[in-house]
Amino acid sequence: MAKLENKQVIFKNFIDRAPQETDLELKVSDIGPRAPSGSGAFLVKNLYLSCDPYMRGRMRDFHGSYIPPFVPGQVVEGFGVSKVVHSDDPNFKPGDLVSGLTGWEEYSLIKKTERLRKIQLDDIPLSYHVGLLGMPGFTAYAGFYEVCSPSRGEHVFVSAASGAVGQLVGQLAKLHGCYVVGSAGSNQKVDLLKNKLGFDEAFNYKEEQDLNAALKRYFPQGIDIYFDNVGAEMLDAALLNMKIHGRIAVCGMVSQHSLSDPKGIHNLFNLVMMRIRMQGFLQSDYLHLYPRFLEHVIGYYRQGKIVYVEDVSEGLASAPAALAGLFSGKNVVRRDMLPNMCKHCTSQSISVNGSKPSHRL
Ligand SMILES: NC(=O)c1ccc[n+]([C@@H]2O[C@H](COP(=O)([O-])OP(=O)(O)OC[C@H]3O[C@@H](n4cnc5c(N)ncnc54)[C@H](OP(=O)(O)O)[C@@H]3O)[C@@H](O)[C@H]2O)c1
Repeated sequence: MAKLENKQVIFKNFIDRAPQETDLELKVSDIGPRAPSGSGAFLVKNLYLSCDPYMRGRMRDFHGSYIPPFVPGQVVEGFGVSKVVHSDDPNFKPGDLVSGLTGWEEYSLIKKTERLRKIQLDDIPLSYHVGLLGMPGFTAYAGFYEVCSPSRGEHVFVSAASGAVGQLVGQLAKLHGCYVVGSAGSNQKVDLLKNKLGFDEAFNYKEEQDLNAALKRYFPQGIDIYFDNVGAEMLDAALLNMKIHGRIAVCGMVSQHSLSDPKGIHNLFNLVMMRIRMQGFLQSDYLHLYPRFLEHVIGYYRQGKIVYVEDVSEGLASAPAALAGLFSGKNVVRRDMLPNMCKHCTSQSISVNGSKPSHRL
């Protein structure tokens, strides 16, 4: 049987700076049209690929992390939504839709099929399975409920708040009866937070001379919960504004991902003075909660209590720019600049075949 042409995004080599488009290259190769007999594998056509900040960590030559680095010269690995084309695994048949780890390419041969989840919900846009219902959404759920220990009426601060994780943290906190403020890097994102995602307040951290003063303005009585996505100066400023027995969930430090010499934190003594619990976490430690997460979030989504906004770049050729753009906050675009994109977009995914999801904004 004739082989299939397979466009791929290849990781070129390790870096110690912010990702650039030139760190990835496009290649066309070919792939057999069937999963080899006896392999237990299946062949998928990738439909949506997720573009996430953690991928930067896989671009450095460091093997002590929770996830191994990419292999230079090999296709980039990432979360995606795919359709089974041919299967040697009796649990999957052609036409099944799946989500989980796949490759940044048109077709992938999936050998560890147990790592993919079958999608059976046809009322939810497919691309949401790499966002709202995928790893970023689950991170928000696990981080907020399991790490932040929230109570009704508490004051919550979320950084990178319009992103894939932050936007759901804020909405879950509102549904929990909390007061929620988010920070983001543009006025357009601030508008989105306040007028689309239901945050009580939001501010553009790039326009603030003094982050400590900004947080004092929004939290005159202090912060109960800080959901940290960025680290560095924002974490330092939040430490100065926490209430006694406040909680800081350290989800990520996107501001530090590209630095070979990360910035220090100066206000850690406040952990003692204010008896703050600061805890890092990985969503993968909570995977046993995934079914509960799906039930919870799908329920809210179907009731119209949660919205999700995303940024879909079309075609594999746009993937290198999409990844580089995450580290300069480019994952919100103006419709007049890129006419094919949704107006209020934040969670970044790449549509492999050029089709677009339907948005419920
Ligand atoms: N612990 C876990 O298991 C886990 C799982 C998933 C993600 N994460 C982490 O969660 C965080 C958010 O991930 P996401 O998928 O939701 O990403 P995202 O927010 O959708 O995209 C990254 C955003 O980070 C902001 N950013 C980039 N560089 C920055 C800088 N130097 N300073 C401040 N903000 C910067 C930008 O928004 P602005 O325009 O607002 O600056 C950018 O749009 C990341 O740190 C990620 O590594 C952790």
